[in-house]
Amino acid sequence: MLRQTRAKWLALATALLVALMAAVFAALRNAPRAPERAPASAPGSDAGRRAFEHLGCTMCHSIGGVGNPASRLDGVGKRLDRGELRAWTTGTGIAAERLPAGISRRKAAARDDPQLEALLDYLERSKQ
Ligand code: HEC
Repeated sequence: MLRQTRAKWLALATALLVALMAAVFAALRNAPRAPERAPASAPGSDAGRRAFEHLGCTMCHSIGGVGNPASRLDGVGKRLDRGELRAWTTGTGIAAERLPAGISRRKAAARDDPQLEALLDYLERSKQ
């Protein structure tokens, strides 16, 4: 009799534990995701953001957590004007003087890209 009672309690406790674990698991799975990092959301920024990726800027830089965190360009629009952004993006002017030749050459690919202006818009808008 005692044994049966104990077995019942054990079964009940096990069932409760399983239910509890399922509830916890479900709650974790459905936890609201952290909101996506606010993109530079002005119109046209998508083309710039895509250019930032397809021109390989993300190999060395990141914006908004996308790309190589070693050299963050977040807020670069606050520090550099459009001319400076253009120079650093295309490896010309001041950037050509300061960057190793190999990197300037790599950046030169952006000079003729049809999305260059959109990319500069995107950088210019990165204010924080
Ligand atoms: C092979 C690596 C490499 C690639 C690819 C690259 N850069 Fe750079 N970039 C650098 C280095 C190195 C510097 C100078 C040091 C620094 O600021 O990190 C720099 C500097 C910059 C700066 C000035 C940053 C500042 O804070 O003054 C900007 C803007 C910039 N790059 C934009 C771009 C864009 C846009 C692309 C894509 C078209 C790009 N870079 C691709 C290596 C790279």
